[in-house]
Amino acid sequence: FKVPTVVNEPMKSYAPGSPERTALQTALKELRAQVPLDIPCIVNGQEVRTGIVEKQVMPHEHKTILCNYHNADEALVTKAIDGALAAKEHWENTPFSDRAAIFLKAADLVSTKYRYKVMAATMLGQGKTAWQAEIDAAAEMADFWRFGVKFAEELYGVQPPQNSAGTWNRTEYRPLEGFVFAVSPFNFTAIGGNLAGAPVLMGNVCVWKPAPAATYAAYVTYEILREAGLPAGVIQFIPGPAPEVVGQALKHPEFAALHFTGSTHVFRKLWKDIGNNIDNYKSYPRIVGETGGKNFHMAHKTASVNSVVQNTIRSAFEYQGQKCSACSRAYFPDNLWPEIKAGLLKAHSRIEVGSVEDFKHFAGPVITKPSFDKVKGYIDWAKSDSESEIIAGGTYDDSKGYFIQPTIIVTTNPKSRTMTEEIFGPVVTIYVYKAEEYEKTLDLVANSSAYALTGSLFSQDRYATILGANKLRHAAGNFYINDKCTGAVVGQQPFGGGRASGTNDKAGSAAILSRFVSPRSIKESF
Ligand code: ALA
Repeated sequence: FKVPTVVNEPMKSYAPGSPERTALQTALKELRAQVPLDIPCIVNGQEVRTGIVEKQVMPHEHKTILCNYHNADEALVTKAIDGALAAKEHWENTPFSDRAAIFLKAADLVSTKYRYKVMAATMLGQGKTAWQAEIDAAAEMADFWRFGVKFAEELYGVQPPQNSAGTWNRTEYRPLEGFVFAVSPFNFTAIGGNLAGAPVLMGNVCVWKPAPAATYAAYVTYEILREAGLPAGVIQFIPGPAPEVVGQALKHPEFAALHFTGSTHVFRKLWKDIGNNIDNYKSYPRIVGETGGKNFHMAHKTASVNSVVQNTIRSAFEYQGQKCSACSRAYFPDNLWPEIKAGLLKAHSRIEVGSVEDFKHFAGPVITKPSFDKVKGYIDWAKSDSESEIIAGGTYDDSKGYFIQPTIIVTTNPKSRTMTEEIFGPVVTIYVYKAEEYEKTLDLVANSSAYALTGSLFSQDRYATILGANKLRHAAGNFYINDKCTGAVVGQQPFGGGRASGTNDKAGSAAILSRFVSPRSIKESF
């Protein structure tokens, strides 16, 4: 068989009066009518209510509880791991065509029957606007699963090119021995679907701990996979407190891989824990992680001002700067700065921040109170810093939701705190450089961050572009020329970065799938 051709999920516009807007409004209303939901753990296909309850609130209206969810305790994590291992034999012997069918069907369910349900969960739970939810929970989720099937087919097709007479050599891409532990972030529902989904597509079983602030959307994602035919136990859905869940999973002898997206700090801690447990494991675990970023936009003196302005506003402030790819430092040449500044201020004056439910606002809230406090702390720091000037935004209000006005800081110190530390909120800091110091500034951009996730270069001069692309080679795993540094599309720009940003195994590619298989070489003599 051959996997059908896949294309990116077509995006809907949600224009006023469009059928999709009406359908999404209905889904939002239905969800509102059900809150607070009661969300269980799911182990071996059974709902488990441990009674250790936490709440997920709506960040744009934090007094409203979206769901009360049950946390796994240590005993349940052990049961989940044992159950996953028990489901393993059946699942790894399920032919690829059938595993593929489940994921293709799940993608179709996301695209049709559950599109608005999973979007509404993402909007109310994670503070996304309709358009940002469409990009994530509808399009990227379907793309991850459909292209995953295509990439798996590609990987399985890589076979030894030579057979000597009377033999047939082949490579079997076995799943790993043991279970995969997936830890997913709040900021993309689709990333959860991929962190748990990609290893499982390759025949693995997975214990999945979703981010607390995205529990409900993760639950909907899990339910879609089950409806598509995923057998019980193959993914164990266990929200829970990190110390219990993570500790239990990482010390298990059958722990085979970590598939992680989240903060650099947590990833390093898990890596150390894995190192400390290394003598207990049956196999050397695979560690795959995508972590923080301090992503840049840099303009050459020939850049299109309009492109710089529009793309910087979008990549810094869409989803409130909470994409791991968001632009948070920018380097603009002094010859263009007056025009860029005027453009940014004008665009900024049109941004409206507020409820994510009314289809009107460009930006919503940040995710939680600790996030709000952290971002506020950086803004307050900039207010008191003699080298920084806030030229737009700088205000915040958490009385109803965790709202922070998109903030633009200009600094004379290219190594200032807000130029180097990850903020994960709607704050971008700009350093204006002397246009004739382009090369020197490239070195600064390349070497002033511990991170290397995404970055953009704006230039209309081919040789300046070549120089920039070369000097910035290791500064970003996803590098854009005359485009914003957010919005990687599955099947078009495999995603991930190096340095403190992750292991750069490239989500949305055959490369990442190869991390979840352990090939067996088979020689058969006739
Ligand atoms: N993959 C997402 C983006 O590129 C994070 O914006």
